[in-house]
Amino acid sequence: MARDVPDLTVFRARIAHLMDDPAAAGSSALEHFEDGLLVVQGGRVVACGPTERLLPTLPHAIPIEDHRGKLIVPGFIDTHVHFAQTDIIASHAGQLLEWLEQRALPAEARFDDPELARDAAEFFCDELLRNGTTTAMVFATVHTASVDALFNAALARDMRLIAGKVLMDRNCPEPLREAAPTGDARSRELIERWHGRGRLSYAVTPRFAPTSTEQQLRLAGSLFREIPDLHLQSHVAENRAEVAWVNALFPDARSYLDVYDRYGLLGPRALFAHCIWLDDADRRRMADTGTAMAFCPTSNLFLGSGLFDLERAHAAGARVALGTDVGAGTSLSMLQTLNEAFKVLKLQGQDLPPDHALYLATLGAARSLGLDGRIGSFASGCEADFVLLDPGAAPLLARRTRSAATLDEHLFALMMLGDERCVAATYLLGRCVFSRTTPAPTRPLR
Ligand code: GUN
Ligand code: ZN
Repeated sequence: MARDVPDLTVFRARIAHLMDDPAAAGSSALEHFEDGLLVVQGGRVVACGPTERLLPTLPHAIPIEDHRGKLIVPGFIDTHVHFAQTDIIASHAGQLLEWLEQRALPAEARFDDPELARDAAEFFCDELLRNGTTTAMVFATVHTASVDALFNAALARDMRLIAGKVLMDRNCPEPLREAAPTGDARSRELIERWHGRGRLSYAVTPRFAPTSTEQQLRLAGSLFREIPDLHLQSHVAENRAEVAWVNALFPDARSYLDVYDRYGLLGPRALFAHCIWLDDADRRRMADTGTAMAFCPTSNLFLGSGLFDLERAHAAGARVALGTDVGAGTSLSMLQTLNEAFKVLKLQGQDLPPDHALYLATLGAARSLGLDGRIGSFASGCEADFVLLDPGAAPLLARRTRSAATLDEHLFALMMLGDERCVAATYLLGRCVFSRTTPAPTRPLR
């Protein structure tokens, strides 16, 4: 351990994180330290382990942020969310296509106002941090200014964020429509301005097959392949009426997913939300191409879209992450999202053990985005984005936690009963960016 290093910061608490996928590697994938230290230098993890072992290796006078009684886990990763739909969360409407027409698209049309976009972006980023979410993959709107507003807000907070402007050139209200070459040119301008700046990355963002012509999908595929490290995000197979619509619009395609495949939209760093009404050939194709699925349980229940089949996704070898999908989703809390995920799986006779749940919200999501090694765990060298969870913050959870004997029980109670009230603090690159109370006391080491 380096000595006399001024920017060394040390956090003491119960610590849990994943080093691998528990579904593949078993229980050894989870590292847990009842009394642990997380040592951060220059915004990166330099060590994570039991206090007993690490304490003697640290410089004598280094202060410790002492959070014993609380739990540190890697910052949550929300892989699918629409920041411009924050204001219409919990809006009463029918299923997907009606909800889009009546609620989501009119809300997005208002983002032609840069001031409104700035205000919404600031609120959204603060709200992510308040929920312990340190990385998100986000849909902006078709408006360039909405992407600028979001990236500016993320940059000011030093957040890792992936986002892109929505592409639509048909089947949508006229103010949200633009010709395919225009959408392509504006995406390129945004990439030039933002991709790779700070911790920001750009995602090519065709909304979904029904709102793009073949020309637009082809341009999106070319762009995705042309520029290194770009991401791609869209929706697939969410709702049965939507699937029927795609079948009618693209009669030559084998399936909804195959539409995207034909235009080169699959591959590592491509992520598709929902993936409910897929068949096993689709799932295998996603696995073979390294394309990720975002399971969005609160949205799928809210819109009555259907039940995501995690067992089949795993059997095919596909990468799976979680999304809140606000505004169709009903919470920005990844804890609440896990709660609903558990129930969606239970309805299908499937299970979501707590270590698997934590994996989905952290390292599994990082892997789905091609960002493992940077975020999602406390392996040495990872960015020190983490969340301090306080099971004592909500009375019922506190009561349940009193009789929780194991970490599994603690984690399960947190995901079933917890929400943003349990997020005591959120850290980006080792720096506290949200605290529910006053700053933590720092004490001399010994
Ligand atoms: N499919 C196309 N656009 C959307 C959207 O904004 N939300 C959801 N849930 N599904 C979509
Ligand atoms: Zn969505």
